[in-house]
Amino acid sequence: MSQTVLQARDLTRHYEVSQGFLKPKAMVKALNGVSFELKSGKTLAVVGESGCGKSTLARQLTLIEAPTAGSLVLDGVDIARASKAELKAMRSKVQMVFQNPYASLNPRQKIGDQLGEPLLINTKLSASEREVKVRAMMKRVGLRPEHYYRYPHMFSGGQRQRIAIARAMMLQPQIVVADEPTSALDVSIQAQVLNLFMDLQEEFNTAYVFISHNLAVVEHVADDVMVMYLGRAVEVGSKEAIYSQPLHPYTKALLSATPSVREEDRRAKIKITGELPSPLNPPTGCAFHKRCPFATERCSQEVPQLRELAGHQVACHHAESINA
Ligand SMILES: Nc1ncnc2c1ncn2[C@@H]1O[C@H](COP(=O)(O)OP(=O)(O)OP(=O)(O)O)[C@@H](O)[C@H]1O
Ligand code: SF4
Ligand SMILES: [Mg+2]
Repeated sequence: MSQTVLQARDLTRHYEVSQGFLKPKAMVKALNGVSFELKSGKTLAVVGESGCGKSTLARQLTLIEAPTAGSLVLDGVDIARASKAELKAMRSKVQMVFQNPYASLNPRQKIGDQLGEPLLINTKLSASEREVKVRAMMKRVGLRPEHYYRYPHMFSGGQRQRIAIARAMMLQPQIVVADEPTSALDVSIQAQVLNLFMDLQEEFNTAYVFISHNLAVVEHVADDVMVMYLGRAVEVGSKEAIYSQPLHPYTKALLSATPSVREEDRRAKIKITGELPSPLNPPTGCAFHKRCPFATERCSQEVPQLRELAGHQVACHHAESINA
């Protein structure tokens, strides 16, 4: 049985923003009560349009920011109650891979040194022991021995992302949060990098939170899928359940807008109209109601909660009648 490595409960992150001189501060509700569990060796994919809170979620999970509310339990330890030493240990258990590998690498440091840094900070290994581990990981991700002495600018985008992945894996973390890790790469390179992620997962039993707006990529990597809309999860389920029988109108619309998804899975043709509303001024009730073809009076008044239906979790008042 896979073990639960991460539990998020009602994870919430609001940002206070200035609206201009003499105007009251406003609150951006970027993440609005998201709950899920992640098991070792499994991949939870997080999907949704730009601005729905995916990167905000990533920053909470990797302890880059502290949530406004809600709880996060990593490997059995509640981060809100963790000591400084526990927090330090947890930071090495959760690593992040960013969209743009160039921005996440130090342009003035040789690759070998960059990869050795996590070991230098977190272990008592000697310089030669570190070098052995770095070289082994470089080989594992498809880099050549002579790359050890090179600088980031000497690599292609795909190679740089391999370096960033190698660095994230150096301490054999339990969890890797990857935020659009292939969307800046050429399409021809994307599949190789996705396959590398999957091979490493099998080898090290790492759990992934894999953030992507690309449903074809998600179909390739996910075990479970969480669909987000304006800071909330609107549908959560196994990849099979979500792709073959999406229940939420927003999930249906995302899938029918993805040409590369299998044709038989695109039965539900729903078109979303209108813009994603702003989390500064979210609609009342169901945040999707202004764009939803099934919206009723109730939808504009009452926020739908995630609930079990047909083996998924879905947040829609009318999921039964829509899917009857
Ligand atoms: N530090 C911040 N201060 C104020 N608002 C923020 C901050 N970070 C994020 N936001 C806002 O929170 C919302 C969610 O942003 P986030 O970056 O998490 O979205 P995303 O789903 O990652 O989008 P994308 O697909 O474009 O990367 C957006 O409206 C964004 O403007
Ligand atoms: S709750 Fe209403 S508006 Fe929201 S997705 Fe369901 S039917 Fe549409
Ligand atoms: Mg983002």
